[in-house]
Amino acid sequence: MQILTLLGSPRKHGNTEAVLRRFEAKAVDAGHHVTRVDVAELEIAGCLGCDCCQSLLEDLDCAQSDDTEGVLRQIIAADLTVYAAPVYCWSVPAQMKALIDRHYCMVKWQGGEVAVALMRGKRAALLLTCGGEAATNVDLTFPLFERQMEYMQAEVAGLYALDNCIGVKEDAARAEELAARMAAELL
Ligand SMILES: Cc1cc2nc3c(=O)[nH]c(=O)nc-3n(C[C@H](O)[C@H](O)[C@H](O)COP(=O)(O)O)c2cc1C
Repeated sequence: MQILTLLGSPRKHGNTEAVLRRFEAKAVDAGHHVTRVDVAELEIAGCLGCDCCQSLLEDLDCAQSDDTEGVLRQIIAADLTVYAAPVYCWSVPAQMKALIDRHYCMVKWQGGEVAVALMRGKRAALLLTCGGEAATNVDLTFPLFERQMEYMQAEVAGLYALDNCIGVKEDAARAEELAARMAAELL
């Protein structure tokens, strides 16, 4: 399986990466091909809402030429994409939000109906880490991701959270436990 992981934390070696890295290692051990994209390192501007992308059905056709198109093509090519991010203000960091907004060009409308969904049938999972309790910190972003993937006509393969992540001190045991659960459910 081709697995794409999107690290949406500006901290390269933070709590989110600690879980993601372990999941990636398990996926490679299981014989899968894993590619990681460091979203915060890329140039991904916000969507302009110009709707230029809606005039061409077959391709992304975004009016902006930054790093987004390359990532979207990787998502389309992958069997499974894992979106991994810390919770920022009960949502995801701006870098990841910009990328999700730019998913807009993967769904083409014609005559009031979806004509093309370039992510159709793809599997997608969300991994969040947060400083507080999961119940009151990932509760808004989980359904947001589910709604987004429903719009993309993608399949939500799993929603995962590691809560009570204070500072950058790695909690290896909990990170390992969550990564193992992700591997068991996603691979
Ligand atoms: C700008 C900012 C906003 C945050 N907002 C929240 C929040 O709303 N809820 C929460 O539980 N933790 C919040 N946190 C804590 C992070 O989600 C948490 O420490 C996370 O594990 C950081 O992941 P990282 O090390 O991969 O960057 C916030 C942290 C920052 C820097």
